[in-house]
Amino acid sequence: MMKDMEKTEKLNSISIKVTPPGPRARKIIQDDEKYMVTSTKSLPIVAERGEGAFIQDVDGNVYLDFSTGISVTNLGHVNPHVTEAVEKQLHKLWHFAGTDFYYKIQVDAARALESVAPGSFQKKVFFTNSGTESTEAAIKIAKAHTGKQQFIGFIGGFHGRSQGALSFTASRPIHHKGFFPSMPGVEHAPYPNPYRNPFNIDGYEEPDELEDRVIDFIDRYMLRTYLPRENLAGFLVEPIQGEGGYIVPPKNFHRKLRKLADENNAVVIMDEVQTGMGRTGKFFASEHFGVEPEIIGLAKAIANGVPMGAIVIKDSLDFREAGLHSNTFGGNLLASAAAVAVIDTIKTENLLENATKQGDYFKKRLLELQEKHDVIGDVRGIGLMLAVDFVKDRKTKEPATKYRDTVELKALENGLIVLAAGLSAIRLIPALNITRDQIDMGVEALEKAIVASH
Ligand SMILES: Cc1ncc(COP(=O)(O)O)c(C=O)c1O
Repeated sequence: MMKDMEKTEKLNSISIKVTPPGPRARKIIQDDEKYMVTSTKSLPIVAERGEGAFIQDVDGNVYLDFSTGISVTNLGHVNPHVTEAVEKQLHKLWHFAGTDFYYKIQVDAARALESVAPGSFQKKVFFTNSGTESTEAAIKIAKAHTGKQQFIGFIGGFHGRSQGALSFTASRPIHHKGFFPSMPGVEHAPYPNPYRNPFNIDGYEEPDELEDRVIDFIDRYMLRTYLPRENLAGFLVEPIQGEGGYIVPPKNFHRKLRKLADENNAVVIMDEVQTGMGRTGKFFASEHFGVEPEIIGLAKAIANGVPMGAIVIKDSLDFREAGLHSNTFGGNLLASAAAVAVIDTIKTENLLENATKQGDYFKKRLLELQEKHDVIGDVRGIGLMLAVDFVKDRKTKEPATKYRDTVELKALENGLIVLAAGLSAIRLIPALNITRDQIDMGVEALEKAIVASH
């Protein structure tokens, strides 16, 4: 097997041999539809191999990947440091029962996370297996700590699809279709979206006015009219909304929400499942907003593709009673080994600096595209968490959803993998070690797709 790998060519450039899906891909897609439950597929790509920023499909096409498995493979595909760490662990021990026994590598992973998570206080970690499970654990911690049961989430938010997490998720009606009722006790407030202002669709408001409006809506309407303050356990919020469309709130929003939570003896659960692990040029996006949440939800990039999630909590929120919460696979040894390597590699390879530097360059290139193409209404994001929003008309900002979907497909045909977010945006989330040349390569393919989609 090693011999086969040695023979395979390096993946370092786009190469489209056959319009996707090619014949091999088509067969696998057919089988997938036959044997697998209908899920959420959006592009006809059947991946076989990955290396850094590139993916090769089963027909031999090579694509530049600006989707990183939705911000999971933040260190690039098959990162050699993570591979080495997992391989080493693979030959020692895979599983032993973190529910009942102790592992060193699990504590190492928790320590590493604790040391990079925001908060000047002591923190503790609970390992999960997905973002959804992190949301569930966060809900339970918040209930157990405050002794309260009601929450406020945000319109446009995404936090998972299990019945508890789903009660917060509010980015697409299909997520809820036929599943009502989910967990009771969750209300939603508008998210301060500076581009499509929820209070004033066509007009313009200063950012501080917008964030105050949202805080005011919660404080003076929700908490004064129907949600008793003494019942409010906490807020669940994304620092930057992901599935909702890569919405960056005004600078002081999270600080003001934090203050409102404190005034009501409620907690802030910051869902950093998509924004975390260096995506925005800091380990956690919360750091851009100067807040220290007492609960942070993580998954996706935490182990670069080995399934893992976690919540990092303020030490004082610990359950402190054995049996209140646990799971079988959380902190699995292979995943823990990967997580330690991920944090280590982000530090030793200065990937936060690279994400900031290349993110700034990438954004500049996208703003140039916006100047040339009227269909781009907005370019937004921080670090390498970027998006372009397509509109039918720049004045009305009417979402060009169909056009956006075509761009996604045309980009693939041009050798670039990108994914949609929200009503009309495309997210651009390359690996944190992306190079300037690769960004140029991607921008060129994206522009071709924009032109071809009219
Ligand atoms: C912010 C956020 N929270 C939670 C989740 C759910 O994560 P998972 O799909 O790993 O359950 C996602 C997934 O996209 C997410 O983006």
